[in-house]
Amino acid sequence: MKSASTNTKECTENRFIEPENWFARLDWKACFPSEQPVEVDLGAGDGGFITARAKAHPQTNFVAVERLLGRARKIDKKARRLGLSNLRVLRMESLYTVKWLLPAGSIRAFHLLFPDPWPKKKHHKHRVIRGEFLGAIEQALAPGGCLFAATDHEEYFGEIVDAFCTRAGWEMHFLKEHEWFREKTDFELQFLSEGKKISRMKAVWKGVRV
Ligand SMILES: C[S@@+](CC[C@H](N)C(=O)[O-])C[C@H]1O[C@@H](n2cnc3c(N)ncnc32)[C@H](O)[C@@H]1O
Repeated sequence: MKSASTNTKECTENRFIEPENWFARLDWKACFPSEQPVEVDLGAGDGGFITARAKAHPQTNFVAVERLLGRARKIDKKARRLGLSNLRVLRMESLYTVKWLLPAGSIRAFHLLFPDPWPKKKHHKHRVIRGEFLGAIEQALAPGGCLFAATDHEEYFGEIVDAFCTRAGWEMHFLKEHEWFREKTDFELQFLSEGKKISRMKAVWKGVRV
């Protein structure tokens, strides 16, 4: 379905968002049956977290962003099996999504859960949290919106915290497991079963969009 004012093909059979135009921002009204706050899971993997959260919170809309087709298909399959009308899958790269596809000021929360750590120094450039990325997050967040991040990689966690601290307008909270989501990601379950230390944070955007 296409109209002059929308950039989103309505998805009736599967849960994929398939924009008519990858160079225009999405229209949430065309993506979801109900207008509700939107949360975005960046690098959603197999979607264990986002599908469980969408099931538990029918009054919120969720977008699972995942660049690997096989994983995106798994999320779609789970969402259909659970009959979730408040979850959509976007097979796309995270930075491009945040910077170019999300409508400004429209996101209540981002989840960046166990992002690929790219442990070798020469690969750090592939890490998703960079200055440009946070600038795009600030544009996309609704007032008072936030970003949740978790990782088992201590050095990467330090880099994420530093990236927020170099920017004005963010309030940081470091959270313990009991303060975290009931729903677990697939990687989190794996790391918990291995007894790994997990670092978790919530960054609340108090700044003003420029
Ligand atoms: C380590 S896995 C974590 C998956 C999930 N969040 C979890 O905790 O189970 C990282 C996921 O992010 C996806 N990913 C990595 N970089 C991405 C990017 N730039 N854009 C979109 N997805 C990305 C990978 O394909 C992978 O599924």
